[in-house]
Amino acid sequence: MKKRTAILISGRGSNMRALIEAKQDAYEIVLVVSNRPDAEGLELARALGVEALAIDHKPFGKDREAFEREVDAALRARGIELVALAGFMRLLTPYFVRRWQGRLVNIHPSLLPKYPGTDTHARALAAGDAEHGCTVHLVTEEIDAGQILGQARMDVLPGDTPQTLAARVLELEHELYPRCFAELARR
Ligand code: GAR
Repeated sequence: MKKRTAILISGRGSNMRALIEAKQDAYEIVLVVSNRPDAEGLELARALGVEALAIDHKPFGKDREAFEREVDAALRARGIELVALAGFMRLLTPYFVRRWQGRLVNIHPSLLPKYPGTDTHARALAAGDAEHGCTVHLVTEEIDAGQILGQARMDVLPGDTPQTLAARVLELEHELYPRCFAELARR
């Protein structure tokens, strides 16, 4: 049985698309949720035949858990078993992370444990790194620190900028994420 999977996004959703289009036998994307109603990825998901839901975080103000309870209810109503974060730019509270422990995955644009958080490409350049890449990992309460499920690496080239690195890392992400996610779904 394919694992019923939801993807949480905040923006354009290119990793979401890669996960949907990979047509894996181990998981099936049945729902996409965005915390931003204007996220491009919502329309893209619908065009790809996947239910897409906006749950705006703004009306919840500082009550992160109330927002997450709403997301959690949407996931449970659809019998979701696995959750993939794909450019989801909200920090999750221990409430949500614990509820989905071991079944909540993220992709991060650096070779963790290097550069958790933001501006990963600029930080890799500033450090003079010869290699850069991306990481798929389980989500835990500590940011970008959960068990690593897989990494993809590439050389940093002379003349690289944060933008050129971001573009090449993104290509790696699109191959790495469906592959690692399917491995987890098969467990
Ligand atoms: C990706 O590069 C992803 O690794 C990164 O945001 C981008 C989303 O692109 N995620 C993070 O930085 C998470 N902290 P996408 O919306 O086209 O998939």
